[in-house]
Amino acid sequence: MSERETVLKISHLNKRYQDEGNPSGNILEDFNLEVKRNEFLCILGPSGCGKTTLLRCIAGFEEFEGEVSIEGKAKTEPDTDRIMVFQDFNQLFPWKTVEKNIQYPLKQQGVQDKQTLQRITAEYLEKVNLPGIEKKYPHQLSGGMKQRVAIAKALALKPKIILMDEPFAALDAMTRNRLQAELISISADEDCTFIFITHNIQEAIVLGSRVILMSKNGKIKIEEQNTIARPVTPASEGYARMWTRLHDALEE
Ligand SMILES: Nc1ncnc2c1ncn2[C@@H]1O[C@H](COP(=O)(O)OP(=O)(O)OP(=O)(O)O)[C@@H](O)[C@H]1O
Ligand SMILES: [Mg+2]
Repeated sequence: MSERETVLKISHLNKRYQDEGNPSGNILEDFNLEVKRNEFLCILGPSGCGKTTLLRCIAGFEEFEGEVSIEGKAKTEPDTDRIMVFQDFNQLFPWKTVEKNIQYPLKQQGVQDKQTLQRITAEYLEKVNLPGIEKKYPHQLSGGMKQRVAIAKALALKPKIILMDEPFAALDAMTRNRLQAELISISADEDCTFIFITHNIQEAIVLGSRVILMSKNGKIKIEEQNTIARPVTPASEGYARMWTRLHDALEE
């Protein structure tokens, strides 16, 4: 495991916001984290502890002190090597069809050949179990379908890291379970690293190859390699112990 290459390294990250010219206190202070290639890292933590802030710093959407590096190169700007998927169902362009939504960033990347664009679109819609919906508009899709398209759109860019900020939080429980299962099989197939924020302990244990729990002050409080045999269910050996440890730490 430790032999695997580091895809993301965060060193001595400090982040504060400017509110009407007044700097806030440090939301993240001397934050350090390494993520290995193909890891599925889940991040839990109480509301307001800085999870979204951390993801936005990794994505290059925020200014910060310290260093975020991808495969050894320091990054301060957004780039297609790391793509964010949000909780909001409205992250697709409503005036574009599904295929145009998926193809738009690919075209920006310089992929122009129509057949290539169609092939990539079909391939990734297939991966998220939505074959044949190329011509639909976002308003014709359910919340779960929109999130699947957003995931397909992200994967199609072949990023090194997908940053997911509670992407399933607004879904009903059944759809959420189904998307979790799909994401597990997608992550096993793709050469991609996932960083996934959730409020849901079950979700973190089911998805994560590693789970970290942040405390209110933006520090890492608990870090656990998830060694529970897949597929993980609440009946799995080790599940209850891990759930209790995370739950108690969240409640503290
Ligand atoms: N643009 C901003 N300007 C000023 N303060 C901000 C800004 N964005 C976030 N904050 C503050 O930074 C802290 C961390 O916010 P953040 O959104 O990262 O938390 P979070 O862990 O993602 O919370 P939640 O679980 O509720 O999504 C909060 O105190 C919040 O008020
Ligand atoms: Mg958040």
